[in-house]
This record gives sequence, structure tokens and C-alpha cells, in this order.
Amino acid sequence: MATPRVLFVTSEMYPLAHTGGLGDVAAALPAALRALGADVRVMLPMYRSVRERAVKHARPVAVPGTDGVSIVAARTPDTDVPVLLVDSPALFDRDGSLYVDKSGADWPDNSIRFAILSKVASIVASASSPIGWSPQLLHANDWQTGLAVALLATRREGRPPTVFTIHNLTFLGLLPRSAFAELGLPLQAFGIHGVEFYGDVSLMKAGISYADRITTVSPTYAREIQTRDFGAGLDGLLSERSTHLSGILNGADYARWNPTTDPHIAARYDAMSLDGKKACKAALQRELKLEERDEAFVIGSVSRLTTQKGLDLLMRALPSVLDAKTQIVLLGSGDRGLERAWVDAARRHPGRIGVRTGFDEPLSHRIEAGVDAFVMPSRFEPCGLNQMYSLRYGTPPIVHRVGGLADTVDDGVTGFSFVDASPAALVKAIKRARTTFADPHAWRAMQLRGMSKDFSWPRSAKQYLDVYSQLLKA
Ligand code: ADP
Ligand code: GLC
Repeated sequence: MATPRVLFVTSEMYPLAHTGGLGDVAAALPAALRALGADVRVMLPMYRSVRERAVKHARPVAVPGTDGVSIVAARTPDTDVPVLLVDSPALFDRDGSLYVDKSGADWPDNSIRFAILSKVASIVASASSPIGWSPQLLHANDWQTGLAVALLATRREGRPPTVFTIHNLTFLGLLPRSAFAELGLPLQAFGIHGVEFYGDVSLMKAGISYADRITTVSPTYAREIQTRDFGAGLDGLLSERSTHLSGILNGADYARWNPTTDPHIAARYDAMSLDGKKACKAALQRELKLEERDEAFVIGSVSRLTTQKGLDLLMRALPSVLDAKTQIVLLGSGDRGLERAWVDAARRHPGRIGVRTGFDEPLSHRIEAGVDAFVMPSRFEPCGLNQMYSLRYGTPPIVHRVGGLADTVDDGVTGFSFVDASPAALVKAIKRARTTFADPHAWRAMQLRGMSKDFSWPRSAKQYLDVYSQLLKA
């Protein structure tokens, strides 16, 4: 298949607008696909941060049938990926983050904001694209873009095929039934085989019901979401559509996450010599005011603070893991109660626990390099990126064996995994890690096995290209 034209629509993309893994994927996957010859363009909202960072090179083009929305063609800094920015200052140019206001509450009009993004994507993907370019295939991501898939599928005229990728099924994108009329869908779409979800509308379900192909971000999560425990109420539909569903593991962007070149860390290192990692650990201990001891076992995490990530389990495990030899580092933001609880724990255990709240990319690199082991007790994890970064940084991950964590961490070989999402199981895994850490030869062997793992993007990008070519042939 020669250079397919693909519109990749997303609610975030690093470094223009970034809150989590979707932003990382939306940066690295289109770049990797372009390197393989695909003409991929990324559509996302012109948030305030995007307005400041994108390299614009064209005048805004008005989108017919919308209330003053326009599209600005631009490029990403550094990677030079073409982006199509959906400009509606009233919806997107705000002081706060992408999805929440300054107090941490969801913007009340989130469903409208992303319905407009989806509508514009569906227009560009149609014969009446106003920008002089239209794709042969639409690739949509998560609930924010599910409506784009449904709008295309329910249209009568010809349309490009669609791929819908689930990054996190639990964000269902719910709207009250009364909002249905505003979406531009035909009446029959409000039904069990359409967007209806227990009497409301789910934009996640819209994507799943109408996409020609559904992918998710690891093979294990693709199986898990067809079960009641992980299916968020959509397991029945996902099982029904299982022949159209597959898991493609995310990659790690080794141009950004590489201890031999990382500009954010105290000393650079590689598998030949891990001395630099020692320096990184000492620098991190100083930065977070921990006791500066090389023999201490430092474990840490960088995470959104939500039920998903299970850092409440680590909090409950503290009495059993915290001792004179163990230190804990956390960088996280999200749930305000959990943020406070961790800040309090740090205050109660000065020198042993170091906590920073907020979003701090350079510090996230210093933690990957500076801790001995990285903890991810996630209750569920569609893929997870930090465990892949950790492997590359010689920082064995301690993970709950679910989703992408199960697919990337080999228990006892490259890290440690546990089966129950409970503080007791987590404590056991941490203790096993500490026992291995106490044996420098065994620990170093584990570090080296992890560092030699290769989860780079081209392999995943080829699998997406396969999906695209199957659809374009059909
Ligand atoms: P998710 O998308 O569920 O949050 P992932 O593991 O896929 O989980 O990706 C999270 C990404 O966001 C990683 O690149 C991680 O380093 C980054 N990240 C999360 N929280 C923070 C934070 N507080 N500061 C800096 N980076 C963060
Ligand atoms: C979601 C998931 C995470 C995944 C990321 C990128 O935010 O929670 O596991 O790595 O999307 O696909």
C-alpha cells in the first residue's frame, strides 16, 4: 500500500498538550507511521498551550456548518509532524488544563468541546473537506473522538474506513439523553446497537459500535475488556465485536526516554556502566531531601493519582515497607485527597518519603533514572508507558500483573509482578525486590536484562499499518 492518507484525531499530543499516555502515543505513533511512508496528519484542539507551542504556517480555514470554528495547519516543534488545529477560542483557549479547570473539576462543557472536535474531524474526512486534503482513513482515539466515527458511519454518502483505539475504557464519555439531538446523529443511533448506554449516551460506545476496526493498547487489555471485571459495562459489546478487536502494544519513545542522552538527569549512563545511575540516585535523594545513602532501597512512581493507578494501595502498604533501609518517591497529581495524604505521609517521614505534586516532566526523568525500582500497582492498565521507560533506565518495575504491565514485565526476570490488587500482595512483591536488590550481582543482571528489551515504536507502527491496509483493501 503506497502512502495512505490518515487523519489521526486525538484530544492531546506531546509536547503541544500533554496530561498522560495518550499524549505520548499521539506524538510518537504518527511520527513512526510517517517514517514508514504514511501521510498521517494529527487533528487536535487549539488549547492555549498549543497556540503557544505549535509552528503555524497557514491561515485559518473556516469550517462550514460550525459556529465560527476554523482549522489551522501547523507542525510540531522538533518532530515536524503536520497537525490540524481545531480553533474555537470559546471552547479551548482556557486558563487551566485540557480537561479540568484550576480547581481540578471537569470543564462542565467537555462533551460539547469534544463533540465539536469530532464533528470537524468527520467533515475533514468527507468529500467536502474545506482544507484541500482529506484522508483515506480516520483513526480516532478514546471517547473524545468516538462521535467522529459514528458520524461517518451513519452518513449516507461514501466514507473512509475508521479505526477506533481504546486507551482507557473507563472514561465512557457520558451525556444525558437530552443531549443526543445536538450530536447530529440519526434517530436510530440512539439504541442498544448505537450510542445508547443505560438510557444515556456514551461517546466511547459510539466509537466501539461504529468503527470498522477497534484496537486497544495491549493484547492482554484487549482480552480483559471482554470480561465483566474490566469491561466497564461494554464487555458484552466488545465480545460481540471481538473479531474486529485487537491489541497492539504501545511503544516507548527512546528519543525522549534514553539514559545515554537524557538532558534532564544528573549523569548519563548505559548498560556498559551504571555508575551514572548512582549519581542520579544521590542527586534525587538530595533534591527530595531524602537521607543520602547509596545502600537505601529507593522505590518510586510518577503517575496520575486516580483509583486506576493504585497508589492508595502503596499508601496502605507503607507501615509494612517503610523501614530504615527503604525510601519512597512520588510525583503525582489528580485526586486532591490522595495528593494531601501523600504530602502528609512525607511530612510524617522526613528523609524517607519524598513527594511532589503537580506535573513536572524533567523531574519524571530524574525519578526514572534515580530510583532503584519503579512501582505501578495499577488496578487496571491498558498499556502503561512508565514501566517501559523504567526497563530502559535500569530500574526494574514492580507491577500489578494486568494489561500492558503483564505484557511487558517478566516476573523475576526483568522486574516483579503480583496478582492480587491488595496492599499485602504489593508488600510481598516489594520485599522480593528488596531481597534481590540486596544481592548486587542478581540485581545488576536483572537491570541489564531490562535495559536490553526493545519496545520501540516502529514495530507497533507496522501493526497499525497492517490494520490500515486490510481496511483499505476491503
Ligand atoms: P496514563 O496515560 O494512564 O496516565 P501512561 O503510563 O500511559 O499512563 O502514561 C503516563 C505518562 O504521563 C508518562 O509519560 C508519565 O511519565 C507522564 N506523567 C504522568 N503523571 C505525571 C506527572 N505528575 N508529571 C510528569 N509526567 C507525568
Ligand atoms: C491510557 C492508559 C495507559 C496507556 C495510555 C496510552 O491513558 O491508562 O495505560 O498507556 O492510555 O495508550
